[in-house]
Amino acid sequence: MSDSRALAIEYLKQQRLLGGDSVILSDGLTVGPSDRDNTAPPAPEHTAAVPSDRPTVRASDALPPAGISFDPPSGDLFANDPIQRAASLEGIATLIAACRKCKLCDGRTNTVPGEGPANARLVVIGEGPGRTEDETGRPFVGRAGELLTKILEAIKLPREQVFICNIVKCRPPENRLPQYDEIAACLPFLYRQIELVKPKVILAMGGTAAQSLLSTKQSLGALRNQVHRFRGIPVIITYHPAALLRNPNWKRPTWDDVRIAARLLDS
Ligand code: URA
Repeated sequence: MSDSRALAIEYLKQQRLLGGDSVILSDGLTVGPSDRDNTAPPAPEHTAAVPSDRPTVRASDALPPAGISFDPPSGDLFANDPIQRAASLEGIATLIAACRKCKLCDGRTNTVPGEGPANARLVVIGEGPGRTEDETGRPFVGRAGELLTKILEAIKLPREQVFICNIVKCRPPENRLPQYDEIAACLPFLYRQIELVKPKVILAMGGTAAQSLLSTKQSLGALRNQVHRFRGIPVIITYHPAALLRNPNWKRPTWDDVRIAARLLDS
């Protein structure tokens, strides 16, 4: 089998892992249920021909153009700011647990500081905890979290190797969007987490994560497909997993975005 064919099959298997349809290649070979990893979602009943707009897989794909570069000043280590002085992710989590800087603290069951190794190469940022996250104190553990885990598996990154967190660390009531003052109160925690982890790449999922991290009002659609920078660290923007659950058509563009993040990780 040629290299390009093997690559195409690998790509299609990853699409399957993300919930895409089975595909029949020109010689009748189907990349579908029998090729799937056991953890993949159930296959749809039908098979579909490869759409002509399906991105071709080339190891040498050029990266998208540079986007926004946001470089907020970091705090002064010698100042009395406890967030800036926190020397570990556990230290930040302790400060978050005691935080009462915005009204979200009134409704929370648990704070959800984020989780993952301090030396993670990838930081994934979502919007804010939902019900299950609030109940458990862990990020992305509901249905959206299951999908995120699959997305990470598709680029061969076990979830345990990724630092996963949110823009706000307490659940907004009824899962409403976090408000401006809540985001502003919480961002210093995220900034310090990124400072401590020093990831190679950041993946911001959804409009709230993208706009808050890059301090912009541009839409998610406008922000995708560029390599932005946060304090010099490449930032890739993609759809939020919860949005993918509502609109499976966004799985393919998400996969394209995640592949870019994977390429940056490997570069
Ligand atoms: N949605 C998010 O943005 N974050 C979570 O942790 C869970 C769902």
